Amino acid sequence: MSSVVIAIDGPAASGKGTLSRRVAEALGFAHLDTGSLYRAVGVAVLRAGKDPADAHFAAQTARALHPEDGILNDPELRSDEAAEAASKVAVVPEVRAALLDFQRGFAACPPGGLPGAVLDGRDVGTVVCPDATVKLFVTASVEVRADRRLKELRDRGIPAIPSDVLEDMKARDARDSQRAVAPLRPAGDAFVLDTSALTADQAFDAALALIGSKTGVGPLSALGR
Ligand code: DC
Repeated sequence: MSSVVIAIDGPAASGKGTLSRRVAEALGFAHLDTGSLYRAVGVAVLRAGKDPADAHFAAQTARALHPEDGILNDPELRSDEAAEAASKVAVVPEVRAALLDFQRGFAACPPGGLPGAVLDGRDVGTVVCPDATVKLFVTASVEVRADRRLKELRDRGIPAIPSDVLEDMKARDARDSQRAVAPLRPAGDAFVLDTSALTADQAFDAALALIGSKTGVGPLSALGR
C-alpha cells in the first residue's frame, strides 16, 4: 500500500514547522523537517572550517551525510548560523540532488511502518514529492513572520533589533525564492494557507479540515486511539 504524503511548504517563520509536527502527530504519520537536512550540511561545512558558499565542498558534504544517524536532532542545527549556512548550501544544485533520495525514501516508506508522512520545506510539493496526496503552502506577510521570529528570539533570551530581524527575513526570502534550482513557490495544485491573521490552533484546524476533505484521513483522537 502506498503511503499518504502530505507536503507542507512555505517561507521562513511561516509556522509550517509547528503545523507539520502537529499534523503528523494528530494523524499518526512520520514527520520530516527537510530544512534540517540543509542545516545539517551547513553545520558540517562550518565545523570543517569551510565557507558554506564553497559549492564543491558543500556538495561533497551533502553526499557524505547520513541523516539516519541522529544528526538531524543536533541542537546546533537550530542556531541562526546554521540557518544562514543552510540557505547558502541550498542554492547548490548538487547539494539538492544529494538530499533527494533520502527525502523521497522517507515519503515512500515512512520509518516505523507508519501509514503516511508529512514533509515540510520549500520544494516538497514542487520537486521532492510532486505526486503528494495533499499539498499545503503555508505563508504569512514578511512583517508578521519577522514579528514571530523576534518574539521567538526574545523568548530564548536572545536580544534582537526589530529592523535587523526584518531585513534578515527579507534577505532569506530573496535567497530562497530567487535561486535557479527549486526556488520557493507554491505548487500549482497547492492549497495556500495564509496564517497572517490566524492563531496556531486556527491554522492547524484549517490544515486538518483540508487534509480530511482530500483523503478522508482524520486525527487519531477522533478514533478514540
Ligand atoms: O526551514 P528552515 O529554516 O529550517 O530551512 C533552512 C534553509 O534550508 C532555508 O533557508 C532554505 C533551505 N531549504 C531548502 O532549500 N529546501 C527545503 N526543502 C528546505 C529548506
